Amino acid sequence: MSASIDIKDKSLILAIETSCDETSVAVVKDGCEVLSSVIASQIETHKAFGGVVPEVASRKHVEVITLSIEEAVQQAGVDLQDLSAVAVTQGPGLVGALLVGVVAAKSLAFALDKPLIGTHHIAGHIYANRIVGPLEYPCMALVVSGGHTELVHLEEEGRFQLIGRTRDDAVGEAYDKVARALGFPYPGGPHVDKLALGAEETVDLPRSWLAPDSYDFSFSGLKSAVLNAVNQHKMKGQEVPVAAIAKGFQDSVTEVLVEKAVRAVKEYSSKQLLLCGGVAANQGLRQRLTSRCEEEGIPLTIPPHVYCTDNAAMIGAAAHLKWKHGLTSELDLKADPQLKLEEW
Ligand SMILES: Nc1ncnc2c1ncn2[C@@H]1O[C@H](COP(=O)(O)OP(=O)(O)OP(=O)(O)O)[C@@H](O)[C@H]1O
Ligand SMILES: [Mg+2]
Repeated sequence: MSASIDIKDKSLILAIETSCDETSVAVVKDGCEVLSSVIASQIETHKAFGGVVPEVASRKHVEVITLSIEEAVQQAGVDLQDLSAVAVTQGPGLVGALLVGVVAAKSLAFALDKPLIGTHHIAGHIYANRIVGPLEYPCMALVVSGGHTELVHLEEEGRFQLIGRTRDDAVGEAYDKVARALGFPYPGGPHVDKLALGAEETVDLPRSWLAPDSYDFSFSGLKSAVLNAVNQHKMKGQEVPVAAIAKGFQDSVTEVLVEKAVRAVKEYSSKQLLLCGGVAANQGLRQRLTSRCEEEGIPLTIPPHVYCTDNAAMIGAAAHLKWKHGLTSELDLKADPQLKLEEW
C-alpha cells in the first residue's frame, strides 16, 4: 500500500446527526474507532403525541446541539484543530431537524477552517457495521428502520445499489402502528418484540412476498390484518390476545425479511450480510436471521444496539469513505429530506 493511501485511511471526524428525534455527536477515528458518542434522545417528549412531531423535534435539537458537540469533543479528549473534517447527516430525514445539524456543522467547519462532509443517513446505518469490523465486498445490507426497509447491494466500498425497498409502511413504522393498536406507547417495536417472544400461542397472519423475484417489501396489508384481528375480538366482546397477535405479526415480518435477504445474498454472491437500523434491535429478527445465516454459511454482522438506532458514530464511519476519496462538500450544503442513497 502506498504512503498516500495510508494517509488517506487516517482521519479524525466529528460527526453530527439530527435527522429525526436523536441529537447525536461523535468523534470517530479512521472510520471505525469511536472515540466518543453522545446521544440525546427525545423519545420522552414525543411519547405524549404517539409519534415524532417534526416542529418539536427541531426545537429540541436546537436546545442541545451545542452542548452535545462540547461533550463529544471533551469525551474524545481531542483538540478541535486536529480534526480532519466535520461530517453531518444531509438527508433523508425531517427537513427542520436536518437543518439544525447542517447549520451547526457548517458553522463549526467554517470557524475551524476544516472540510465539511454531507453524509447520507442510510449510508450511516449501513456503515455502523464498519465499527464492528472490516467489511468484505460485495456485500448486502438489510436496512430495517423507522422510515426504511431496504436491501442494498454494495459492489464495492461506498457504492450503493438499492435492489429492494418498501412499497408502503417501513418495518419500524408498521411495528409502531401495530403496537399502538395493541395498546402500547411509542416507540412500539420493543413492546411488540417482548410480547412476541413471550407468547405461547400465535394468530396466523399473511406473508407479503409480492412477485416471486421481487426484493420489495409491503407491510400495510399485514398491518390491516392485525387491525382486523383486534377489531374482531373487540366486536365480539372478547379479550384481545395481544401476545398471540404480536407473535403472528413478528413471525410474518421476520420470515419475509430474512428469506428475501438470504435470496439476495445468494443472487448477488455477497460475501457478507449486514443488518442495520433501529429494528435490528428486534430479538425475533436477530434470532431468525442468525440461524438462517448459519444454515446457509453466510457471514452476518449486526452492530451493537447503540449503533443500530440513530447515532452520529455511524455518520462518522460513512463520512470517512468520502474523506478518503476527497469528496468534501461546499459550505452552501443544503439539507435534503429526499437525498438518494445511490447519489450520496
Ligand atoms: N426491538 C425492536 N423490535 C422492533 N422494532 C424496534 C425495536 N427497537 C426499536 N424498534 C423500532 O425502530 C424504529 C426506530 O429506528 P431508527 O431510529 O433506526 O429509525 P429512524 O431513524 O426514525 O428511521 P430512518 O433511519 O429510516 O430515518 C422505531 O420504529 C422502533 O419502534
Ligand atoms: Mg435512522
